[in-house]
Amino acid sequence: MTTSPSLDQLHPQFEKAGQEHVFRFWEDLSSEDQARLLQRASEVDLQEVALLVETHVKGGGAHEQGFDNLEPAPFIPLPEQGGDAASWQEAEAVGAEALRAGRVAAFTVAGGQGTRLGYDGPKGTFPVTPVTQKTLFQVFAEKIARSAERFGAEIHWFILTSEINNDATVAAFKENNFFGLESDRVHFIVQGLVPAVDQDGKILMADRSTIAMTPDGHGGSLRALVRSGATALMAEKGIDCISYFQVDNPLIPCLDPAFIGFHILGKSECSSKMIPKAYPLEKVGHFCLQGGKTVVIEYSDLPEEKQQETLADGSLRFVSGSVAIHVFDRAFIERVGGGSDAKLPFHRADKKIPFVNEQGEIVKPESPNGIKFEMFVFDALPLAENPVIIEGARSENFSPVKNAEGVDSPQTCKEDQLRQYTAWLKAAGKNLASDETGLPEICFEISPRFAADKQDFVAQWEKLDPKPEIKDGVVLG
Ligand code: UTP
Repeated sequence: MTTSPSLDQLHPQFEKAGQEHVFRFWEDLSSEDQARLLQRASEVDLQEVALLVETHVKGGGAHEQGFDNLEPAPFIPLPEQGGDAASWQEAEAVGAEALRAGRVAAFTVAGGQGTRLGYDGPKGTFPVTPVTQKTLFQVFAEKIARSAERFGAEIHWFILTSEINNDATVAAFKENNFFGLESDRVHFIVQGLVPAVDQDGKILMADRSTIAMTPDGHGGSLRALVRSGATALMAEKGIDCISYFQVDNPLIPCLDPAFIGFHILGKSECSSKMIPKAYPLEKVGHFCLQGGKTVVIEYSDLPEEKQQETLADGSLRFVSGSVAIHVFDRAFIERVGGGSDAKLPFHRADKKIPFVNEQGEIVKPESPNGIKFEMFVFDALPLAENPVIIEGARSENFSPVKNAEGVDSPQTCKEDQLRQYTAWLKAAGKNLASDETGLPEICFEISPRFAADKQDFVAQWEKLDPKPEIKDGVVLG
């Protein structure tokens, strides 16, 4: 067991950093609270906090480049959008070979708080499928199990959690017997926390003994993989391709052979899938080139005229939407998530953060009083060698559950799953009655355990004899 440093060890360090107020109420605390505070204080990276305060609180923020010489980032189009079918086939074969060789792991980031959905529990335990109400975690687990079966491979799954939801996440997996996966191939990684500070750069205390800490963002996933020893485990197992996706998107093919193949063929350190924007001002990041580097510029940062700019044929110039689907090279994660100088930057977010004042009273601010710091995973792109971007069809890749109602809600996600199943059946030669958006008249389900993606489905369906009747309430597979 590791013991926390003593107050005598920590206090001088905090004093030197101008943060000694963290121990202001020390004398009034119970011995348990003192121990908790010491433990937490020992985890604070004071050097990092000092740098963040210097850059984002006292300074004018990280240097932002203008948008004058911004170009759209090139991407590999889908065959049905004019891409070269032979290269997609080659990529698919290379990716399948990597999967068979056990070189690929799945990585889900599930450390967020899901505040917009307003669901009480880890988002991965939210039920999503149209008939059987499988949870997001179950959908991914079954897709991974199916890919393992399809490629005859041992596939490891890494899941990023946070201190807030880790125990509930692990419990959900145990209760469900790891959804049929081998438990020693599922790895939970708790992401890092960063202290929140006030407008003067002083660390905020949530109460007399608790430092106000917030998760370090999905960009923190890369250093969490390194710190937790996950990358070392990957190296031991011969895993060098990490397929990254978000917890709220059940449409994702968790292990897409063509995507993995393009990543390998391109000797890419970080590959991305782009989804053409649904409309000019869609709230997604934009894949761009700036000063020779691939970057993602958030919709909130990119001037509207750029978001709406069109080419001579009327199509959008900045068409490539970023929806956080990547393949990472393990050595790249070791580099940017480890001790090298190439690190993901932090971003500042001003928030209302309850805090304890000098009198020891808890204050619930009415307006933003504090600053939290987060890293974004797409900031890895400009640090990567040979970044590859391929096109993905939205209908096969992306329909997140973000909000309780309206866009990106459980309802829209359920409908998109139904559209996806209907499109898969059509690709296999079976037409179902549907409306002009592809939404079928009946509610049914294709089990991810049966097929993990469209191509897999077509092959699986072919093998079925006799073919089942597709009617309301049916679960295929
Ligand atoms: P979102 O930006 O949608 O945030 O995260 P969220 O926390 O899930 O939801 P809101 O904004 O509170 O409603 C995108 C993905 O990144 C993960 C989330 O779990 C989700 O898969 N994430 C986000 C982390 O793993 N850690 C973080 O610190 C933030």
